[in-house]
Amino acid sequence: MLDKIKKIKKKALTELEKINSLEILRDFEVKFLGKKGEITVLLKGMGKVPPENRKEVGQAVNGCKIEIRAKVEEKEEKIKEMIIEKDINRKDFDITLPSQPLPHKKGTIHPVVIIQNKVEAAFEQLGFKVLDYFEAEDDWHNFEGLNIPKDHPARDMQDTFWLKDGNLLRTHTSPGQLRAMHDYPPPFRAIFPGKVFRYEKTDASHEHTFHQVEGLMIDKNLSVANLIGIMKILLEAIFERKVDVRLRPGFFPFVEPGFELDIKCMNCNGKGCQVCKYSGWVELLPCGLVHPNVIRAGGLDPDEWSGWAFGLGLTRLAMMKYKISHITHFLGGDLRFYRQFTEGGLK
Ligand code: PHE
Repeated sequence: MLDKIKKIKKKALTELEKINSLEILRDFEVKFLGKKGEITVLLKGMGKVPPENRKEVGQAVNGCKIEIRAKVEEKEEKIKEMIIEKDINRKDFDITLPSQPLPHKKGTIHPVVIIQNKVEAAFEQLGFKVLDYFEAEDDWHNFEGLNIPKDHPARDMQDTFWLKDGNLLRTHTSPGQLRAMHDYPPPFRAIFPGKVFRYEKTDASHEHTFHQVEGLMIDKNLSVANLIGIMKILLEAIFERKVDVRLRPGFFPFVEPGFELDIKCMNCNGKGCQVCKYSGWVELLPCGLVHPNVIRAGGLDPDEWSGWAFGLGLTRLAMMKYKISHITHFLGGDLRFYRQFTEGGLK
C-alpha cells in the first residue's frame, strides 16, 4: 500500500511538472483529487487496510493529498503569472492607445441643490451676494464671536465634531456672519449656503450632516418687520404657493430679539405627521436682529449699524417642498431616490 501511494505521488508530480495551461491543470485535479481521482480512491480504500497499518497508511495518503493540492495551487499561480507576462509582451499590445469610452451616465441634481439654486436665484434678485465659507471653523467664529462663550449652555445644543487641532466642523452657517462683516464694508446683504454638522442621533428629521443657508443684512435702522417681510416673499417664491408661517420667540445668543419662524407642514398640510412630529408645524427658520456684541465682533459699531440674520434649513426646506418623510434619504446614496427630482437623469 505504501509503495502504491509513493508511485501515485511520483506519477502525479511528474505529470504536474509538464502542465502549462489552466485547462490541463483542471483535468489533472480531476484525475488525482476529484471524486473518483486516484488519491481519493486511495483514501476511500482505507477501510480495507489492516488496523495495525491504518495509522501509517492514513498519514501517508493524507500527506500525499495535501502536498499535491499545494503543488496544484502553486502551479496555478505560476500559470496565471505566465499568462499576464505573455499579454504584456505582446507585440500588438499598445499601452498608449486611448481606452474604450466608458458608458458614462448623466448624473442628477441633488434635491438640496435644486432648492439651494432656487433660494440663491430669489435672493440674488433682491441684491444679496452669495458667499461660500468654511466647513471647518475655529471656536471663535463658530461660538465665541457669536456671543456663545465657553461655558454657555447653548453650546450643548450644538455639540459637534472636534478636530485634533482644536478646530471643529461648523454647527451652523452663522460663523459666516462674522466673516462677511470683516470681508465687506457696510451696508451689504448676503447669503451663505453650505453643509453644517452636528453630533446628533439620527431620526426622521435629524441627521449629522445637513444644509443650511444663512442670510445677513447689515444696514442702518433695520427692523424685525423688515426681516419678516423679506422672508415671506422668499418662501412664497421658493414654494411657488402661499405659505403659512407663525412666529414664536426663540433664543439664540447672537440675535436680540430672536424668533423661530415656523411653516405649516407641507407634508401633511398641518394635519400632523412624522416630519412635523404630529404638531402640524415645522420649525423652519430661526432669525432675529443681530446682537450688538456680534456686530462689534464683526468689527462694526453697533450704535451706527444694525443687522438681521436668519438660518434656513435647506434640507428641511427640501423635505417640505418634495414631501420627503425621512431625512436620511438625502445622504443615503440610493440613486433611485435622487433620480426622481431631475428629468433626463440616470436611466
Ligand atoms: N445658527 C442658528 C442655528 O443653526 C440659526 C440662526 C441663524 C438663528 C441666524 C438666528 C439667526 O441653530
